[in-house]
Amino acid sequence: MANCSFEGQSVTVRIQRFNPEVDKKPRLKEFVITLEPGTTILDALREIKNEQDGSLTYRRSCRHAICGSCAMNVNGKNMLACNQPLKDHLDRKGRITIRPLPYQPIIKDLVVDRSVFWGQYQRVKPWLIPPRDVPEKEFCMSPEEVEALKNAEKCIMCGACYASCQVIGLNKRYIGPHALLKAFQRILDPRDSAPGERLADVAGDDGVFRCHTIFNCIDACPKELNPTQAIETLRKLAQKRQAFDAQRRERQKSLINSAPIMSAERPGV
Ligand code: F3S
Ligand code: FES
Repeated sequence: MANCSFEGQSVTVRIQRFNPEVDKKPRLKEFVITLEPGTTILDALREIKNEQDGSLTYRRSCRHAICGSCAMNVNGKNMLACNQPLKDHLDRKGRITIRPLPYQPIIKDLVVDRSVFWGQYQRVKPWLIPPRDVPEKEFCMSPEEVEALKNAEKCIMCGACYASCQVIGLNKRYIGPHALLKAFQRILDPRDSAPGERLADVAGDDGVFRCHTIFNCIDACPKELNPTQAIETLRKLAQKRQAFDAQRRERQKSLINSAPIMSAERPGV
């Protein structure tokens, strides 16, 4: 909720704390700070860590919405902490509640274990697999081909989409919107030489057909990307491929059934 009336006044930052070495379960702890103009959520965390509680633990690096490390859950919504003004997220009583990203084990306070997230990313082979013959200079893609990628290369792997997808909450084997968006980028990239294998990989039980089109991933993305549309595109391509494979199998069966019985040895061999 946007609220400008607290500038220069005290506001309450409620942060979920959890230290697995001493705590049985997470708890909320309140900190009071003075809201200065331009304070971001990350600034507030830094002030609290520097001046009130050095044990507060969170990830951050670039402070410019580039590295993706400061994603967290603010008032129930996943977002980056470094590009969000604190005042925009205060309630009428001047309070904000910050928790770690959901659906992942907490290492400490706002830091979660992202091993499964990165494992799924690795699984789709996020790197470009170039053809054997490459041009002497750069590959020249058309504006239409670039447009078809729908800015997917802008993803900063913050995990906000992944941790907002309820399918992930139920099934950690689901590849997830972050990795499927990357698979989409590679499959549609005309420079890549393995789109068929990639499509087969994401068309399995844990891939594009597991998405329930919940749309949370779009709402959470700080770069305004559209993983749902990417997944839908992959799903259509996978369906076409499955239909083609099924037709091919049927045709081969009919060829075998209609062919005269032949001995194992071909005449003249
Ligand atoms: Fe999850 Fe996004 Fe699909 S939230 S179910 S990946 S549309
Ligand atoms: Fe790098 Fe926020 S600190 S994205």
